Amino acid sequence: MISNPRQVGAVWPTSRRAVNDLLDLGDFSRARTVLEFGVGAGVYTEGILKRLHPDAKLLAFEVDGGMAREVSRRLGDPKLEVITDSAENAEEYLEGSKADIIVSSLPFTTLPESVREDILDLAPRILAPSGSMLVLQYSPAISAGLLRRFATVKQRLSPINIPPALLFACEDPVKGRA
Ligand SMILES: C[S@@+](CC[C@H](N)C(=O)[O-])C[C@H]1O[C@@H](n2cnc3c(N)ncnc32)[C@H](O)[C@@H]1O
Repeated sequence: MISNPRQVGAVWPTSRRAVNDLLDLGDFSRARTVLEFGVGAGVYTEGILKRLHPDAKLLAFEVDGGMAREVSRRLGDPKLEVITDSAENAEEYLEGSKADIIVSSLPFTTLPESVREDILDLAPRILAPSGSMLVLQYSPAISAGLLRRFATVKQRLSPINIPPALLFACEDPVKGRA
């Protein structure tokens, strides 16, 4: 956070309670391809793996190679592939398949605008029609961008976190964007 505040965008890792509140918004029992955007210390990665179907895979994107390696080593799960690359390039790793769930803790409000818009445009394109994108943020600023790309955006608050977290569950990706 100190060396790269705009990339990391948060002082504390998300609380387990807030992670669970976010993951409760998705149906992991039916998901076979799950993507995570912004692995960081791996708090979400660990929570996702606990819910992941034995036949499912988790492709987790993190731009910081050191954090990516550490989480991959610590969790060492064959269903998990931690990829040191930007979430902008996620489509290249899907090999033509679609994602059932995307979980994002990216700091959208502090990322460069072009990166934010590329990732927001990408998400509805790579999601299965019945898929969902689960997003945790600390400000409501992203909600207009989500509403342009998803016909259904549910929002709730997870108060047991510093600061309290806003959770978005985005469904019904709008076809034809980007
Ligand atoms: C707010 S932190 C969340 C970390 C983690 N989920 C946690 O709570 O421990 C955001 C993470 O996203 C990563 N990140 C930033 N831009 C990214 C991008 N374009 N693609 C993938 N990861 C990115 C940062 O390096 C950072 O680790």
